[in-house]
Amino acid sequence: MSTENQEASTVAVTIENGVAWVALNRPEKRNCMNPALNRQMMRVLDELEYSEDVAVLVLTGEGTSWSAGMDLKEYFRENEAKGLGATRRAQSEAYGWWRRLRWYHKPTVAMINGWCFGGAYGPLFGCDLAFAAEEATFGLSEINWGILPGGGASKVVADLLPLRKAMYHAMMGENIDGKTAAEWGLVNEAVPLSELKARVQAVCDVLKGKNPVALKATKDAIRRVKEMTYDNAEDYLVRAQEAANSFDNDGRKEGIKQFIDDKTYKPGLGAYDK
Ligand code: ACO
Repeated sequence: MSTENQEASTVAVTIENGVAWVALNRPEKRNCMNPALNRQMMRVLDELEYSEDVAVLVLTGEGTSWSAGMDLKEYFRENEAKGLGATRRAQSEAYGWWRRLRWYHKPTVAMINGWCFGGAYGPLFGCDLAFAAEEATFGLSEINWGILPGGGASKVVADLLPLRKAMYHAMMGENIDGKTAAEWGLVNEAVPLSELKARVQAVCDVLKGKNPVALKATKDAIRRVKEMTYDNAEDYLVRAQEAANSFDNDGRKEGIKQFIDDKTYKPGLGAYDK
């Protein structure tokens, strides 16, 4: 069997009505990320990114875990034993698919069904939106076994949380539940686990109704402008809108027409009929 075939089982994909449900699939290892999974996830993201069957991508985990972070044996110990080259390669495979998610062509939603530790904050941040089970558990456990929160995890909490909360979370090694993660802004919302899939499905249904060119331009704009001065952001946004117009001349004109001429909807209250 080829390596690719052996690695395929580490990620499970189901496509239903325009939504790709992509699950980390090593439940017996709590979906910790080993090099095989990292490579497979990049293949899956490649395959789905421009597929006409997919409007929204949901990232979740099989079993009781979203992801228990990096595989301490296969990602850290075994690569460190092989030397610097193997370690750097493993890092670039992991960081590569998280970066791919951050700038993904389709809207992405993290559905955090259980454990979410350390390295898992990379793909958590990579997704545009995040919904957690109230029962989920979030932790920067790095400090508990003697490293700093690397692989972007420190950046994630510094970006998403107020400084004191980020420091406490990173330094104390205490876990928080989904409800607290929502209060802190690590995720958008927390709902009981039994309602999580329905809530995420409802979010996907809304996203599916929006203009896809505008969605991609919007998600990129929010990430880009966060690091710009106001004036630079203003300039970037003019250019980004003009670039989006060149891909989507009909969509926004139709949106204006349905509001101003046809009076069939109100942009303040919902999306135009695509
Ligand atoms: N790396 C390697 N193996 C792991 C990891 C991991 N991150 N997480 C779980 N596993 C393995 C366990 O070793 C065990 O393997 P085994 O069945 O061969 O013994 C199996 O997954 C099941 O794990 P349990 O600990 O038995 O599962 P339980 O449900 O009791 O606990 C929990 C789940 C709390 C997530 C626990 O597994 C854990 O603490 N995992 C480590 C979490 C962590 O700190 N991750 C690293 C973050 S730092 C970083 O990512 C850079």
